[in-house]
Amino acid sequence: MITIETEVTADFPADELAAYRRAHLDALHTLQAARPGTGAHRDNLGWLTADRWATPTQLAKLTTLAAQVRATADVLVVVGVGGSNQAARAAITALATDTSCEVVYAGTNLSAAYYQRLLASLQGREVTIDVIAKNFQTLEPGIGFRVFKPFLVAKYGADYASHLIVTGTPGSPLEALATAEGYPFLTFPTDIGGRFSALSDVGLFPMAVAGLDVAELVAGAMAERTALLANPGPTNPAYAYASLRQFWLAHGGKLEVLGHFEPQLDFFGRWWTQLFAESEGKADSGLYPVALTYSEDLHSVGQYIQQGQKDLLETFLVVAKPSGSLAIQPSGVADGFAYLDGRDLTAINRTAENAVIAAHRNIGVPVTKLTVPRLDAAAFGALFYFFEVAVFLSATLQGVDPFDQPGVEAYKALMFAGLGRD
Ligand code: PA5
Repeated sequence: MITIETEVTADFPADELAAYRRAHLDALHTLQAARPGTGAHRDNLGWLTADRWATPTQLAKLTTLAAQVRATADVLVVVGVGGSNQAARAAITALATDTSCEVVYAGTNLSAAYYQRLLASLQGREVTIDVIAKNFQTLEPGIGFRVFKPFLVAKYGADYASHLIVTGTPGSPLEALATAEGYPFLTFPTDIGGRFSALSDVGLFPMAVAGLDVAELVAGAMAERTALLANPGPTNPAYAYASLRQFWLAHGGKLEVLGHFEPQLDFFGRWWTQLFAESEGKADSGLYPVALTYSEDLHSVGQYIQQGQKDLLETFLVVAKPSGSLAIQPSGVADGFAYLDGRDLTAINRTAENAVIAAHRNIGVPVTKLTVPRLDAAAFGALFYFFEVAVFLSATLQGVDPFDQPGVEAYKALMFAGLGRD
C-alpha cells in the first residue's frame, strides 16, 4: 500500500489545510461510491474496477499470446502514444530483467531519424508489432502502422499478419482491420481513457511480453483499491495527496514536482506527468507537473527549487526497500572520498534523499513523501491505481473533468489542415 506523510514549515497554514480536507470529503465519498456505468463520468470509470477487464480468463489469454510472442520474436515494437504506451513503458523499463524479447517503442513521435534508427536496429531480428490506439485516428500510431505494416510484409510476405497484433476498442477501425486481415485483436476498453488504461490489455500485454507478472500487478492494484475504499476520512492517502495539491493551487501554487531517487522510475515520472497534465490542465488552472530524477536533477533543476520562485510543492516518491546493494570499495589512492569506504550505495542514496527533503522543506516547500514498499509488479499495480484515484479526486476538487483533453485539439486542427486531411 502507498502511504503518505507531509512535512511543512511552521508558517504553513496546516490548520487551514485540515479544515479544507474536512470540508471536501464529499469528493472522496463520491469516488468510493462510484461504479462504472452509473452516475457522473459513467462512461469513463472502467479503471476503477480494473479486475472487470483484467479477469483471470483475460489474463490467461494475454499471457498465452505473450508467451507465443516471446517464443517467436526477438523484439516487440509497441506502437502507441500518450496513454497508449506510457504505463507499459513505465513498468517495463523499471522491472523487466528477462531479455528474451526486447520491447521497444514507436508511434511516439514523427521523426524520420527515429524511425530509420529503429528500423535499422530491427535488421536480422524476429519482430512482432503491437499497434495500440483507442480509435485509430491519432497521427502517431497511424504513422507507426504505415511504417511497420510494409516492413512486416517485406520481411514475412503473406505471413505478415501473424506478426501484427492490434489493440483497439470493439467496433473501431482497428477491429475492422483485424477481422479483415487476421490480426489478433486485444481490447482497449470503451470505458477507460488512454491515461487510465494501465491495467487493461493496453498496458498489460506489452508488460507480459517483457516477462512481468501481470497477475501480481493487477493484484497489487486491487489491494490498493481495497485500502483506498476502506478509509473514508481525511487521512485516506489518495485523498490527503489530492487535497493538498488542490489546497496549494487555491493558495496560488503553480506547480508540483514529483521527485524520486531511483532512475528505474524515470518513465513512471513521464506516466505521472501525462496523467496529471492531461487530466487537470484545463480552465486556465491546474498545477504544472514536473517529474525529476534525483540525484541527477539536483545538478540542474535543484538550483531552481532551492533559490527560484517559491510556488511549488514537492512530492517525493520514496522506495522503502530499494532492490540494489553495492558496497563502496576503498580506492587505495588519495581521491578525497575515503569517507565513503565500505558504505552501501543504497544508504548513501537515502542520506541524499533525506538531505534534499530537509533542504527543500527548510525554504518553505511543502514536502510530501509517498512511500511504496519496494519496486516490483504488485507495487507498480498499487502505484498506477493510487495515482489514478488521486488524479480523479484532485480534478474533481479543482472542478474540471479528469477524463477529457479538449486542449489537444487546437494544434491537431492546424496540423491536419496542413496535411490536407478531410
Ligand atoms: O490519455 C489519453 O486519452 C490520451 O493521451 C491518448 O492516450 C492519446 O492521445 C492516444 O490516443 P489514441 O489511443 O486514440 O491513439
